[in-house]
Amino acid sequence: MSQVKIQDKVFEKFIGNDQIDLAVEKIAREITRDFGDSTPLFLCVLKGSFMFAADLFKAYEGPCQISFIQLSSYKGTTSTQEVKTLIGLSEDIKDRDVIILEDIIDTGITIAHLLQDLKTYQPRNLKVASLLVKPAAAKTPVQADYVGMEIPNDFIVGYGLDYDGFGRNLKDIYKII
Ligand code: IMP
Ligand code: MG
Repeated sequence: MSQVKIQDKVFEKFIGNDQIDLAVEKIAREITRDFGDSTPLFLCVLKGSFMFAADLFKAYEGPCQISFIQLSSYKGTTSTQEVKTLIGLSEDIKDRDVIILEDIIDTGITIAHLLQDLKTYQPRNLKVASLLVKPAAAKTPVQADYVGMEIPNDFIVGYGLDYDGFGRNLKDIYKII
């Protein structure tokens, strides 16, 4: 499938699943290097990150745990710049090594908001792993500690990422045309 139509928009294939796998494995190796001797708590930011989190969790070989939160900021193809917490933290993260798993950092507003919030619970380490980063869209200086790939400032879907709730089940990543 080189093109897909979702609602009113057409998308073309951009990043294949084999390339995604390599990026996920690279991040898993880097986190193992840094946290392999501790027991990190992966924190998956729903909904977009669920596929990345599942694949990373399988690729990570050391002892680890996972938890989930749900934030929302996007409407259609743009960020509303207002971050809502739909499902909050259920775990005590004090003195834990916490690694936030994000599908993509776009403006950076969501991750900046989340980091500020989580710091108040006093984790021992607080790191960010993002499969994708759009450097040209950055509106805050926040940088991820682990990055799969940098991409241009185009709207994308697939591998967990959606357009109005659709396209999350695509195993490759597509960009809008
Ligand atoms: P930010 O707050 O602008 O950095 O946006 C963060 C969230 O918006 C991400 O975690 C995604 O869930 C969503 N998002 C950002 N860019 C895209 C995109 O190109 N396609 C689909 N969702 C996106
Ligand atoms: Mg997200």
